[in-house]
Amino acid sequence: MSEIVPFSLNRYPEILELWRSDTGIGLTRSDEPEELARFLERNPGLSHLALTDEGAVAGTILAGHDGRRGFIYHLFVIPGYRGQGLGRRLVDKSLEGLTALGIEKVHIMVFGSNSGGRAFWKKRGFSERGEISLMSRGLAGNDTGKACGC
Ligand SMILES: CC(C)(COP(=O)(O)OP(=O)(O)OC[C@H]1O[C@@H](n2cnc3c(N)ncnc32)[C@H](O)[C@@H]1OP(=O)(O)O)[C@@H](O)C(=O)NCCC(=O)NCCS
Repeated sequence: MSEIVPFSLNRYPEILELWRSDTGIGLTRSDEPEELARFLERNPGLSHLALTDEGAVAGTILAGHDGRRGFIYHLFVIPGYRGQGLGRRLVDKSLEGLTALGIEKVHIMVFGSNSGGRAFWKKRGFSERGEISLMSRGLAGNDTGKACGC
């Protein structure tokens, strides 16, 4: 069974290569090491990696909260490890951490075109919020973030 360990930026090049391999993961400047370090520092203990038996990265999840709602980003499992419950284990681990902090609701942004991702989240008890439109604006000269689901 894959081991789940704290998310570590020591594995950044490997992680980035995995994220880049999948259109379900939208990457922006927030995925550069300095920005990720800030996210991890603000949200200790909520983000994780899964490892293969050989110690390679098999899965990722980033999770955090703003004191009110939880947010999950970049859930990813390598193709050879999919369908074995690893995505579920990563999500459950982050949800446990958020629950322990008193967070009562968590949001995930999924590309509308990512039917597999949407099916996964529905299995995990998430519902699509047809009554809400996500609206975004870039700050500090960034674009509107339209290239990314989050
Ligand atoms: C989505 C993803 C993380 C799922 O990981 P996984 O390890 O295969 O998922 P699990 O094996 O834990 O599956 C959990 C449940 O979701 C279901 N599920 C997983 N992927 C599914 C898919 N593509 N379509 C339908 N159901 C799916 C499983 O059948 C399982 O159902 P069960 O609880 O009834 O047994 C993985 O497919 C992935 O990395 N996809 C590419 C990146 C991505 O799109 N991430 C989501 C971004 S929002």
